[in-house]
Amino acid sequence: MSRTERQVGGRPPGFLFRQTPQGHSAESILYCEHASLALLAERFGTPLYVYSTATIRGRVGAFEQAFRQVPHTLCYSVKANSNLAILRLLAKMNCGYDVVSGGELERVLQVGRIAARQTVFSGVGKTRQEMQAALAADILLFNIESESELSALAECAGGRKKNTRIALRVNPDVSAQTHPYISTGLREHKFGVPIADAVRLYSKAAANRHLNVAGVSVHIGSQILDVKPFAQAIERVAELVRELRARGHKITYVDAGGGLGIDYENDASDFTKGVAAYAHAVLAPLRGLNVHLLLEPGRSIVGPAGILLTKVLYIKTTHGKKYLVVDAAMNDLLRPTLYGAYHQIVPVEAPGDHARESVDVVGPVCETGDFLARDRELPVRQEGDLLAVLDAGAYGMALASNYNTRPRPAEVLIDGKTVKLVRRRESIADLLRLEKTK
Ligand code: LLP
Repeated sequence: MSRTERQVGGRPPGFLFRQTPQGHSAESILYCEHASLALLAERFGTPLYVYSTATIRGRVGAFEQAFRQVPHTLCYSVKANSNLAILRLLAKMNCGYDVVSGGELERVLQVGRIAARQTVFSGVGKTRQEMQAALAADILLFNIESESELSALAECAGGRKKNTRIALRVNPDVSAQTHPYISTGLREHKFGVPIADAVRLYSKAAANRHLNVAGVSVHIGSQILDVKPFAQAIERVAELVRELRARGHKITYVDAGGGLGIDYENDASDFTKGVAAYAHAVLAPLRGLNVHLLLEPGRSIVGPAGILLTKVLYIKTTHGKKYLVVDAAMNDLLRPTLYGAYHQIVPVEAPGDHARESVDVVGPVCETGDFLARDRELPVRQEGDLLAVLDAGAYGMALASNYNTRPRPAEVLIDGKTVKLVRRRESIADLLRLEKTK
């Protein structure tokens, strides 16, 4: 980074401010790698998702480094951001995938048949049709979440006389200390089978000649910043692996799930250190077990790699409260509304002066819950200015909807100087296509 560049907070230089030449109205402009976000907005319009290849590469690299001492596969969780270009990029870095639907599996198949063989299939409600597709694709592992699902898979595999590897996703009854909607590892949650039932279910699975008992899986939730719950969950998994082996099951894989959180508020935190602490929490209980570790990170790979670019349409003040009405809304980025999530917002063209004011950043959707930020201190903005909503690469576009018949944003992937439109903006015609007009 040169002296004329400034990182956004302390994040890796996927997004950074570059000083403008003298005489420019802004002091500096936000770039994604070598692409000016101001120019991207002109070229592709707003709202626009912009992703940094360098950030994704850096984060995969940090995982690889942290887990280098054990055999492992990073099965990127497709639900976080399922754009095909991102899936392809991850395939080039030897990642596998974690999918939860036939649709996500189809995306992986579009990347390639080899990618599908590195794929684990999770989720409580896999249909027989989805199981058939996954059997045909020869996936790495089914993560089974109930006795009924186990029977359904046995039937499907038997029908096509095909053997397949399975793991049971166990519910470790561990509190993940995250938002209740994204906590999954307590006994009252719908996920996994109770550890107490696991031994019986493994015996049942092993008795079926088409099911190859191969692993134990766990996933306790998402956006988890304290690594202790991961250690607790893996300790219970390790105990189960020992017991299963003692009973003669050949357990090759431990799937530790995803869930490592990112620091939405203070991006000066060091990801390399965070992932190293996570690796320690996961690996310590597994020492001596000699398993192949599967990891299913989503957010921690793509979250900080994406921003949502939006334009201020109007500024209005009512009863002393100031609103920036922007062209992105809850349908484009649902997290603030759904989880009360905090996303940093920065102006794309940073002003030279430091005048700031408190505003609500709201979208055009007809709901009071349609906000991106409330009571947020921002540099004073004008109508027409651009804002970047940070850390929007995970569960941003993936959760976007067409509410209010709003076409979803375009997506652009930047790699150095290369700018690639990886999903065009939807048109109204796209939205109406499936409906009968007469
Ligand atoms: N594996 C399984 C089985 C999962 O259910 C999930 C996420 C992951 C892996 C990936 O977790 P991650 O590494 O991304 O935390 N929409 C919410 C997050 C929902 C997470 C659902 N499961 C949000 O925007 O915060």
